[in-house]
Amino acid sequence: MVKIAPSILSADFSCLGEELQKIEAAGADLVHIDVMDGHFVPNLTFGPPVVRALRGCTPLPFDVHLMMDDPGSLLGAFLDAGADSVTLHIEACKQPQALLNRLHEAGVGAALSVKPGTPAETVFPFLDQLSMVLVMTVEPGFGGQKLIPETLRKAAAIRQECARRGLALDIEVDGGINAQTAVNAVQSGANVLVAGSAVFGAADMAAAIRTLRA
Ligand code: DX5
Ligand code: ZN
Repeated sequence: MVKIAPSILSADFSCLGEELQKIEAAGADLVHIDVMDGHFVPNLTFGPPVVRALRGCTPLPFDVHLMMDDPGSLLGAFLDAGADSVTLHIEACKQPQALLNRLHEAGVGAALSVKPGTPAETVFPFLDQLSMVLVMTVEPGFGGQKLIPETLRKAAAIRQECARRGLALDIEVDGGINAQTAVNAVQSGANVLVAGSAVFGAADMAAAIRTLRA
């Protein structure tokens, strides 16, 4: 079963609460929240107060993607704000284990992400402690980019390693996912599709989500 996680990076920021209600009605499975700090990536988005404000707008799980340096510094704040799962970039973590421990203690989903240039193997030592791996299919920072095809090999490599070790975790892909690229992404082993422009740019969000899922 493929899950669809619309990225609110492509939503209308002047009415985010209503945008969440729209994607909920359209059949989204998760809300993908792209946190950017202006350092780890050259763009700046939401912090914990925004996540907290949105928490009351929908019961959908919040999939919080932290594109920030030193993610430990705000981890507690994002957990208090209502994150249901937190994705940390392996490139940004000096001590991934300590941060994963905090996520486990908080009882939320724990995920690690790799940028396009980071080998899949960097997350292998942690696979048995993760609920999800996020394979970036574009360079993080902006919505509306084209998927980098080679990145899907990493999704496949992670899926294969999970199968070898008997682990059933989610594999999420993020960036450039649309009705065309979703097919290869799912064939490569992804089962959670982040989609920003493909959902929020669609005239009919429900149809866009149905098409991605199919
Ligand atoms: C990029 C973000 C993505 C982005 C996806 O740094 O992590 O979630 O919003 O947008 P699309 O689907 O438009 O490529
Ligand atoms: Zn993202």
